[in-house]
Amino acid sequence: MDARALIARVRDRQPVDAQDLIWFAAGLADHAVTDAQAGAFAMAVLLNGLGEDGRVALTRAMRDSGDVLRWDLDRPVLDKHSTGGVGDCVSLILAPALAVCGAYVPMISGRGLGHTGGTLDKLEAIPGFQTAIEEDRLRDIIRRAGCAIVSASARIAPADKRLYAIRDVTATVESLDLITASILSKKLAAGLEGLVLDVKIGTGAFMKSADDARALAQALVDTANAAGCPTTALITDMNQPLAPDLGNALEVASSMRVLTGQDQGRLLEITAALGGVLLANAGLTDSVGQGAQAILDCISDGSAAEAFGRMVAEQGGPVQFVDSWSRFLPEAPVIREIPAPASGYVAGWNGHALGLCVVDLGGGRHVETDTVDPAVGLSEVVPLGTWVEKGQPLARIHAAREAAADRADEQVRAALTLSDTAPELPPLIHERIG
Ligand code: URA
Repeated sequence: MDARALIARVRDRQPVDAQDLIWFAAGLADHAVTDAQAGAFAMAVLLNGLGEDGRVALTRAMRDSGDVLRWDLDRPVLDKHSTGGVGDCVSLILAPALAVCGAYVPMISGRGLGHTGGTLDKLEAIPGFQTAIEEDRLRDIIRRAGCAIVSASARIAPADKRLYAIRDVTATVESLDLITASILSKKLAAGLEGLVLDVKIGTGAFMKSADDARALAQALVDTANAAGCPTTALITDMNQPLAPDLGNALEVASSMRVLTGQDQGRLLEITAALGGVLLANAGLTDSVGQGAQAILDCISDGSAAEAFGRMVAEQGGPVQFVDSWSRFLPEAPVIREIPAPASGYVAGWNGHALGLCVVDLGGGRHVETDTVDPAVGLSEVVPLGTWVEKGQPLARIHAAREAAADRADEQVRAALTLSDTAPELPPLIHERIG
């Protein structure tokens, strides 16, 4: 097989052969395919697409470019994936809740990308928490705790690791086919029997328009189902942070407040909706409504928090984390309020700008080698539709230094739209696909 022949077929909009894609994905993993060839392939796919069959074949080939986990367990193996947003810490609540509701959840997660936070960075705000876990140990944790949240090892979908890095520097990230194959190759390599996708839309999401979000959700659902993993997507709103707090330790704190019944709101609502779909699809409940109720019940009776505590302890965190979580989470040295510049309704948040503000505070990375400060971020961000008087707090800044807090203050005010009239609030869940 010759990479040039495959690239030429995509360039000329000819159908591609599944065998050729298997060869190409293996070549990405073992470097038989050069960077130049990978970049040319990515650009040809971005411009011309692969078609549905080609997209499924590429996803399967990238999944099979490394290890594919096989489970022999008495309960279904399930997971959730979000396309990324701000204040989105659903995974921390949903993984243990699903484990209590009868699923096994080997969640392979990522780090912050662009303006969005990453589940691994959030969990690493817990002292001692390890996310790089070998396969044997992962199997052990799944059997004992029911859930684990880990990074992809070098052996999971290595073709994606290589192609993603090349896409990042060749302006080819934004291809529906490549995004689909990239996300699903890693998820399907975890040996899932069911998946729910949270496709975000709005100012804090990668997809800003309903048409783009719907197209991505449909591509992901069709491809995952065709690859043998029953999958449904919910298109959900990201026009404001999902949790009121943004930043790594701050989002662990948000999740703990939901898990211990001290907080409810949109984070809990979306967790129950996604969990309900997964439990019903897997036959663990008779309906989506019963599934959502099961998630809410295990949160209100404290069993989801206990499961979270077991996972934290198994992954190296403090054994007593759930009982006294605030004692273990780092605090920023500078904490200050941002006063509203005028009175009015909070009519809009630029979620992308809020996410970047957290990155600039040190809560995310500008380049891959940056270290993340777990303590910084924004808390108590006032929700859309709230009336604020001039001088009333819009949010609190958690910063490492006064100068960083000054910059964040400006960024947050610039991200806000105030209005004299109450805004129409978008629904939290827009649509279900699949
Ligand atoms: N997340 C991924 O894993 N891959 C993409 O291509 C985009 C988002």
